[in-house]
Amino acid sequence: VSELDIWGNLRDRVLAHRGTHTTDFGDPYRVPASDYTSADIHQLELAKVFFGGPVVVGLSGAADGPGGWFTVDVSGVSVIIVRGEDLHLRAFLNACPHRGMKLLSGFGTGMRRITCPFHAWSFDEAGANRGIPTREAFDDYSEAELSLQSVAVVESHGVIYLSLGEQPIDAVKELGGVQCELDLLGAADHVLIDRQERVLAMNWKLGVDSYMEAYHLHYLHKASLRPYFYNDSSPFDSFGKNGRIGGVRRTIDNANWDDPQALLQHITLEYQLFPNAVLIYQQDHFELSQVFPHPHKVGIATVVQSVYAPRENLTAERIERFRKSFMLLLDVTVAEDFSACEVIQRNLASGSPTVLHLGRNEPGVAHFHRSLHAALQ
Ligand code: FES
Ligand SMILES: [Fe+2]
Repeated sequence: VSELDIWGNLRDRVLAHRGTHTTDFGDPYRVPASDYTSADIHQLELAKVFFGGPVVVGLSGAADGPGGWFTVDVSGVSVIIVRGEDLHLRAFLNACPHRGMKLLSGFGTGMRRITCPFHAWSFDEAGANRGIPTREAFDDYSEAELSLQSVAVVESHGVIYLSLGEQPIDAVKELGGVQCELDLLGAADHVLIDRQERVLAMNWKLGVDSYMEAYHLHYLHKASLRPYFYNDSSPFDSFGKNGRIGGVRRTIDNANWDDPQALLQHITLEYQLFPNAVLIYQQDHFELSQVFPHPHKVGIATVVQSVYAPRENLTAERIERFRKSFMLLLDVTVAEDFSACEVIQRNLASGSPTVLHLGRNEPGVAHFHRSLHAALQ
């Protein structure tokens, strides 16, 4: 499928909605409040989804070039992802085989050895032990016992999937067709420039829900986003378990349509990559939000927000500009979206309401819940 077809079709759908003040409709969906408050459902989600199958942990550019690395906490299980000299990604549990120290945190480039801060054991890019002070004290142990434990990782079309489960990762199946658009947007050619993490008093799904409809843009974001966005005219498409909505900018009314790519200047594309990632394309860069459930508490989640900039022409000045717009967006999401999520969580935990009612105009949220429901069967 050509670029012209994909963005051209999307543009035509958006413009048709502009004319009629409509938006893409799906089916209504009732979400039981217990989905957000039940400890049993929480444990099932952890076992089946987060510890049992693939999870999106970042874009390829989070570990950029040989020695590029980053860490991620999958609901308490910390993992290191590192790109070797051969440019292949490998992942290891972020726990030293000696006495269990965390080896790394954050992200970076050019790493040749992973060295433990506790007793300075060191490991190579394949996880093999390459150095132990007072080596003879550990002669009784096998090389395997002294080396890092591998975790399954696959990158495909710019997306990195990691799995703590038994099954091999089938990235093509996980992507479900969304790779066409990710390729057009150059997902593989963006590098991680900043990442922020915060713990919030909400179930992880409320965080995902908040991204997947444009309906609230005119009300919850009255002062911040309403001046720039419409809250209708949103296209929705599903790609297997994943979904994508568009947030349409008011500038679309004065767009110059000689170039079908022009659409990308007037729409924010939000991809829900199952289970817990929302990848947002904002005109010329990506932002990634990942919401991880707490390993025990149903009403606590960690949100990791990252900004990725195109690798090409990445000057210090451009990095600064991307970082600034990222900070502005974080301010809005934290002050408006996530604080609403925390209020909602308290209501749900109190026992009212017992059911949430998704409208036909919220197909992105409904698709996420349907996909999750299917995955838990
Ligand atoms: S815990 Fe890592 S070297 Fe001792
Ligand atoms: Fe929002």
